[in-house]
Amino acid sequence: MTLFDKIQETAAFILSKINTQPQVGIILGSGLGGLIDAVTIETEIAYGTIPNFPVSTVEGHAGKLVFGKLGGKEVMMMAGRFHYYEGYTMEEVTFPVRVMKALGVQTLVVSNAAGGMNTAYKVGDLVIIHDHINLFPEHPLRGKNDARLGVRFQDMSEPYDLALIAKAKEIAKAKDLKVHDGVYIGLQGPTFETRAEYKWLHIIGGDVVGMSTVPEVIVARHGGMNVFAASVVTDLGIRDELNTISHEEVLEAANAAAPKLAGLVADLVAAM
Ligand code: HPA
Repeated sequence: MTLFDKIQETAAFILSKINTQPQVGIILGSGLGGLIDAVTIETEIAYGTIPNFPVSTVEGHAGKLVFGKLGGKEVMMMAGRFHYYEGYTMEEVTFPVRVMKALGVQTLVVSNAAGGMNTAYKVGDLVIIHDHINLFPEHPLRGKNDARLGVRFQDMSEPYDLALIAKAKEIAKAKDLKVHDGVYIGLQGPTFETRAEYKWLHIIGGDVVGMSTVPEVIVARHGGMNVFAASVVTDLGIRDELNTISHEEVLEAANAAAPKLAGLVADLVAAM
């Protein structure tokens, strides 16, 4: 079966389970599942029951699609995402975004936990992503292009929608919520970076670094969706102490900052 046919099959299956049409897609990052609490849930579908969907394996990622209402909009949430480091192909990592597009989703909101390189950032800070650098070893659009899914050579001059960024900043200001505006570097992991790597990532223009987001954003843009993305800074790669970084620390910091991000996303979706 071609990728296009798989997408159609999966979308048809999901359509048979839901009563409304999602307008906004949301991908929840590590420890940020709390946003689900803000949603009036209509339907939940476990990944394991969805044809052509990979199954999530990593700790702290629930693994279901959640459909419901947030800020007056019909939303479709991924609780648990597929990371390249888990061994999935780029096609698998980005497949749910293709399905969102097929279901009629126009706007994708992505959240993630990320390491901070910008020395002005503190653990728990929110960063609105305005651009990215793709350091993944494989590209999600590599291979024969299906024109029904998008163009061969995708423009990436505005990967993150400027109007949504401006709106989010306005909302943050009104809420007296501190937000940064930064560049996200996506790489495969699963190791956290060495001190030299964090330093280098900062020198090449990164403010935050993580192991997700970039593939999904590329595919969303390929499908013509508008994207908004934000990071929670869960650890700092550049600081004076001889710090180490653990997955537990990342999840803990993400959980602590989740309500801030949830509030921002809920208001942003309401304003769309
Ligand atoms: N590096 C890469 N990915 C991450 C980090 C980090 O420091 N923190 C959370 N995800």
